[in-house]
Amino acid sequence: MLENLEKIKQQFSEELNAVNSNAELEKIRVSFLGKKGLVTEQLKNLRDLTPEEKKTAGMQVNKLKNEIEQAIVEYQKTLEEKEYLQEIENSEHYDYTIPGGRGAGTLHPISIVQKQIEDIFKTMGFIIEDGLEIQTEYNNFEAVNIPKNHPARDMQDTYYLDNGQLLKTHTSAAQNAIMKKYGAPKTGEPLRVLFPGRCFRNENLDASHENTFFQLEGIMIGDDISISNLIYFMKVLLSEVFERDVKVRLRPGFFPFVEPGFELDINCEICEGSGCPTCKHSGWLELLPCGMIHPNVLRMGGIDPDKYTGFAFGLGLTRLAMMKYNIKDIRLFNSGNIKQLRQFTR
Ligand code: PHE
Repeated sequence: MLENLEKIKQQFSEELNAVNSNAELEKIRVSFLGKKGLVTEQLKNLRDLTPEEKKTAGMQVNKLKNEIEQAIVEYQKTLEEKEYLQEIENSEHYDYTIPGGRGAGTLHPISIVQKQIEDIFKTMGFIIEDGLEIQTEYNNFEAVNIPKNHPARDMQDTYYLDNGQLLKTHTSAAQNAIMKKYGAPKTGEPLRVLFPGRCFRNENLDASHENTFFQLEGIMIGDDISISNLIYFMKVLLSEVFERDVKVRLRPGFFPFVEPGFELDINCEICEGSGCPTCKHSGWLELLPCGMIHPNVLRMGGIDPDKYTGFAFGLGLTRLAMMKYNIKDIRLFNSGNIKQLRQFTR
């Protein structure tokens, strides 16, 4: 019997070495350890032995059984590793030595829309400015008429830094510095500035909320600027971006830095107004809050509110890109998922 066991062991290791797949491995397991397997047969044969013989032979058979079980488990790991390496070998891999040009990157959908709007506004005499991402509390809040303890601060759940500064919650944080930089407009030549930027708020993430998003803000200040100028510019902006007329609605909106203030909503392009998660089932998306710059804000920027008036708008650039490209989930933008993002930019 012991001779038999030696043979079985030999046979097992030969067969195992030829195994190339999980299916083959399973076959071997059955042929040795299954109900009618070679090792199982040996266990059954123990019946015919004397108690004395049974003891030693039993130990030997069990030892072989354990060895075989162990070897199968080990081999399975080897197979998995092999399969994994094979997969890597077969998958497309990046060759850093290939000269540039082929497979070059594309612009992010947000950059594309941003550039498009910058181009439109540049032709209308706007200067493009860059705001800082780390701002003082003064610039982000006080300078736009949101003093300490004002309830409007609650609407912008803010990331404060250890040094007392903060991550800007809106592009309006740049208004004060821009007004101070350019000063009061010359007669007949209104100050026109466009300032896109990344903003941060501590939001609960869902299809339409991100903690990092882009706005694009614009101001126009002069000695004769009115709400009709504001509406004109907003209409030009939207029809150029969507390359057709989009349905909009204007309703009163409160922002401490504009008076009067408006919310310009656009018809949700994703569900065409019938309601979906992106528009919170309302059919409309808040896209363009705007209004006439509050006298306090002009004054803090060093511009005399008795002489000048102006409008400001803060476009939700990320939302606009969602509408333009029919992107249903805002989280895609910061996902770094190049395959998915590329489909919008080809
Ligand atoms: N800063 C405002 C916000 O992020 C938007 C806004 C900008 C409103 C300019 C009016 C004028 O909520």
